[in-house]
Amino acid sequence: MDLVVSKINKVIGKIAVSGDKSISHRSIMLGGIAENETHVHNLLLSEDVKNTINCLEKLGVIVERQNDITIVKGMPPEHYKPYYGQLDAGNSGTAVRLLLGLISGSSNSYCFTGDYSLKSRPMKRITDPLKEMGANISFVEKNNLLPIIIKGGNLQAINYKLPVASAQVKSAIILAGLQGTGTTVIEEPEVTRDHTEIMVNYFGGKIEKDDSFIKIEGRQKLVGNEVFVPGDISSAAFLIVLALISPKSELLIENVGLNPTRTGIIDALKSMGANIEIIFEKVSNGEKYGHIMVKNSNLTGTTIEGNIIPRLIDEIPILAVAATFAEGKTTIRNAEELKVKESNRIEMMVTQLGKMGAKIEETEDGMIIEGPTKLKGLVVDSGGDHRIAMALAIAGMMAEGQTKVLGSNCISISFPEFEDILKKIIK
Ligand code: S3P
Repeated sequence: MDLVVSKINKVIGKIAVSGDKSISHRSIMLGGIAENETHVHNLLLSEDVKNTINCLEKLGVIVERQNDITIVKGMPPEHYKPYYGQLDAGNSGTAVRLLLGLISGSSNSYCFTGDYSLKSRPMKRITDPLKEMGANISFVEKNNLLPIIIKGGNLQAINYKLPVASAQVKSAIILAGLQGTGTTVIEEPEVTRDHTEIMVNYFGGKIEKDDSFIKIEGRQKLVGNEVFVPGDISSAAFLIVLALISPKSELLIENVGLNPTRTGIIDALKSMGANIEIIFEKVSNGEKYGHIMVKNSNLTGTTIEGNIIPRLIDEIPILAVAATFAEGKTTIRNAEELKVKESNRIEMMVTQLGKMGAKIEETEDGMIIEGPTKLKGLVVDSGGDHRIAMALAIAGMMAEGQTKVLGSNCISISFPEFEDILKKIIK
C-alpha cells in the first residue's frame, strides 16, 4: 500500500495517540513471567506488539482480550512449553532482543527469527552478555545475525558495561538477571529509556539505580498488576511537528507518556523555539504522562548531540523534517545508532527528504540540515521503515503538490491509527 498526501492548510483539534510501544512490549513480557494476572489498559495493538504476543503464546503464556483490557496470564520461563518451530519477531528489535533475555531463564532450546530488516540488525550486543551469564547461544548462519538458537537455565549474575547506549540490551540483561543467581550490575554509557526498571519495581521486584549503575538481585518473583499504557510520545512526535510547521495550527494531544528518558524530542524542539506546553501531569504505574499543547511556531536551527540522543533516538527522522522548516542550520551528531534501526535512517532521510528538495547532508554520525526550504511533492520510498514512512508523509503534507509514500503499510508496526487521526485534525 502507498499513502498519498497533499499539502494541507492547518491542523486543529484534541486527540489521543495509540499506546506506547516500549511500555506495551514490557507489559506483555513482564506479565508473561509474573505470577497472577496482569491487566493492561490501552495496550498498543500494532504489528510489533502482536509479534511479542504471538511468540509468548507459543510458549504457554495466555493473552486474552476482555472489552478494552488485555489480560496476561504468565509463569516463570523455566515452566514454558517447548516449541520446535521458529519464534518469529517480525520487524521488532525490541521483541526479539528482550525475549532473548527473558527466555534465557528456560532450559529448553528455542529458535528466534525475524523479517528481512530484523535479520540484518546486530544481535551480538545481546548474545555477548547472555552468553557471559551462562546461556548457550548459536547463530544458525554463523554471522552474528538472526536466526538464533538459545538454550538457557542456570544463569549467573554478571557485571556488564554496555558498549552502546541501548535500552534493549539493558532490558535483556535485566530480564535474565532477575532469573539467575547473584547480583547483576549494569553500567550505561548514557541514560536510556527505563520502562523495564519502572515496571519490574511496580510488579514487586527490586532494581536499584544510582547514576549510571543498575543493580538487579537474582531469583526474584514478580507479581502481575494493573498497567495503564500512556500514549506513545514517539507517535505523538509526528503530529507535534506537523502542528509546529503548519501555519495557524493548534493541537492538544492527551495522555502522552512523559517519562524523562523519552522527552528529548520536546527539549530539542523547545530549543528550536517550539511553542509546546505540558498542561497536565499525572503518574500511573510509575510512568509520568500528561497532555501536550502545541502551537504553530517559527523554528530556528540547533545542534543535537551527546546524552540527549538516546532520549530522542526514534524521533530523529521527524526532527529532520522540522529542521527543514527551521531558519538556519541544524546539526545532529552522535547518532550512528540510526544506521542499525529498521533501516539506515540517516541514509533514508538524506536521500528521500533530499529528493523532495531539502538541503540535507549525511555525516559520519548524523546529518546537517539547512533551512528553511520549500519541499516539492513526489514519489518517495519508506524502505519498509514505519518511522521513515510517517516522517515523509508529514513532509508531504507541507510540500507543494502530491507526495506518494511507497510501502506505507509498515506504519501499522507502531502507529496503526496514524491516518485516522490525521483525517480528524486536518482542516
Ligand atoms: C527501545 C529501545 C530503543 C528504540 C526502540 C525501542 C525499547 O532501541 O530505538 O525503538 O523499547 O527498549 P535501542 O535499545 O536499540 O537503542
